[in-house]
Amino acid sequence: MMTLLAKRVALLDTENAFKIGPYIRSIEEQGKSVIKCNLGEPDFPVPEFIKEEVKRQLDLDNTHYCDPQGIPSLRKVIAKYFSETRGIRATPDQVVVFPGAKPPIGFSQQTYCDPGDEIIYPSPGFPIYESFTSYVGARPIPVHLKEDKNFTLSGDDIASTITKKTKMIFLNFPSNPTGGVASPEQLQDIAQVIRKRCSENIRVFSDEVYENILFDGNKHRSIISYPGMEKITILVSGVSKSYSWTGGRIGWALFPTAEEAEVFRNLNINYFSCIPPYNQEGARLALESPLSKDAIVSMVKTFQDRRDLVVDGLNAIKGIRCQKPKGAFYVFPNISGVCENLGSMEAFQNLPADLQQRTSPSTLFQMFLLFEYQVATMDRKSFGRMGAEDFHYLRLSIATDTASLKEGLKRLAAASQDKKGFKLFFERGEHLF
Ligand SMILES: Cc1ncc(COP(=O)(O)O)c(C=O)c1O
Repeated sequence: MMTLLAKRVALLDTENAFKIGPYIRSIEEQGKSVIKCNLGEPDFPVPEFIKEEVKRQLDLDNTHYCDPQGIPSLRKVIAKYFSETRGIRATPDQVVVFPGAKPPIGFSQQTYCDPGDEIIYPSPGFPIYESFTSYVGARPIPVHLKEDKNFTLSGDDIASTITKKTKMIFLNFPSNPTGGVASPEQLQDIAQVIRKRCSENIRVFSDEVYENILFDGNKHRSIISYPGMEKITILVSGVSKSYSWTGGRIGWALFPTAEEAEVFRNLNINYFSCIPPYNQEGARLALESPLSKDAIVSMVKTFQDRRDLVVDGLNAIKGIRCQKPKGAFYVFPNISGVCENLGSMEAFQNLPADLQQRTSPSTLFQMFLLFEYQVATMDRKSFGRMGAEDFHYLRLSIATDTASLKEGLKRLAAASQDKKGFKLFFERGEHLF
């Protein structure tokens, strides 16, 4: 294979959330039930009125090729929505619709970065930011989100990573995997630093897919709303999280200029021609309909109740420390104490170097938890590998019903005390990464 495939193939990493699925299936095939705290999608059905619209569009035979940039009716609504919610002036020719909010990440890196250019991104963060960087020949520059700063960023944090080669800066609030949300003051501070230190020839990629999932009555704020940012920011969102519609594959980006949007339109043409028009009409209605508000409010209330339950439950477990996230539907506990108590730190140190590359103390605990206690979670290194060696966290999704979450907490508490079980699991050596 090494001689068959292009060299860049080896540079592309992945999203482990998709890798863990076959493990779960293999455990379920043995008749065991797995508590799924690994899922990155809301566990609610798509709101009924959206489904009805998609069905109606199918009955209208709206099933043919359509505008590669996104159907005009949807782009018009997106431009209006962004203009109203962000206080900017967006036009439909600056908008491009994609099959989800994920494709504009890699497409942007291909479009704006030459080999050697630097891309700043949050770590822990959505893995695709890092995974694509080396593939396009750019340099990954992680900016580490610290637990003691509620997993947010200050202007100084960003300033220390900016160089003359910086070409893109990725931001993601509310954040996957931490649920961290930058305050208006922090966003202002970050915007000021970027404006002062960077030319207009860079792009800030503001990934706002969790824009509607905020707790404690907080309102979403976007970096694009701060002075000077509209000219350099790519604003991204979509239907996956807000409308619990991950299978709809509709996301969108607003570009600073129509000329840039044209480039992405052409990438769409080259890669997939267009996106199903009947789903785009569903997305249009989702953004337009007054019914969406109630659906979102009820989903967020459920997530907030579950967040409180899970954070309290985790903090009651010896060796675990967990912040209360302000948004999204994940919690990100620090499990250093558990890794220490169980012996997973020591076990990791004793592994040969090639195995150490593939795992980590938190991965060992993640695998132990999955295979011996049937709780599926994600490890720290699934959210950016560079410089993550000394950080020991898990991501638990709360997009699972309350009874399952309670059972998951019970199993997690038991696993975190089971030194003997961990030792046997490690010695068997079957699932160390
Ligand atoms: C931060 C972030 N950005 C983008 C995406 C991709 O979303 P989509 O399903 O719309 O492609 C996700 C999905 O988990 C995400 O967490």
